[in-house]
Amino acid sequence: MIPVCRTEDLPEGGSVRIEIDETTPAIAVFHTEDGFYAVDDTCSHQDASLSEGWAEGCFVECPLHAALFDLRTGAPTCLPARHPVRTHEVGVFDGMVHVRPAVREEAVA
Ligand code: FES
Repeated sequence: MIPVCRTEDLPEGGSVRIEIDETTPAIAVFHTEDGFYAVDDTCSHQDASLSEGWAEGCFVECPLHAALFDLRTGAPTCLPARHPVRTHEVGVFDGMVHVRPAVREEAVA
């Protein structure tokens, strides 16, 4: 897993955008009252950063056109987004938030 930040640097209500390398899409990490979540940062509708959206519970609202995504599954729950964003495993170890980027399907094929 990839270390993201210390837990105190990502307080509840906070989010952070991380870039890993040129081949891995940026990831948005959220700390909501339900815990830590990570999804692809770019909205599946257009080019908006979900880390700049509004997260509550297990949902994040896109800052551009207000599509709502379920942070547990990446599925959109309303239009205009029709496609899910990928979710990524999050772990907290020794006070550090870590993310395991999901394997991209085209990388497996
Ligand atoms: S860019 Fe996210 S809903 Fe349009």
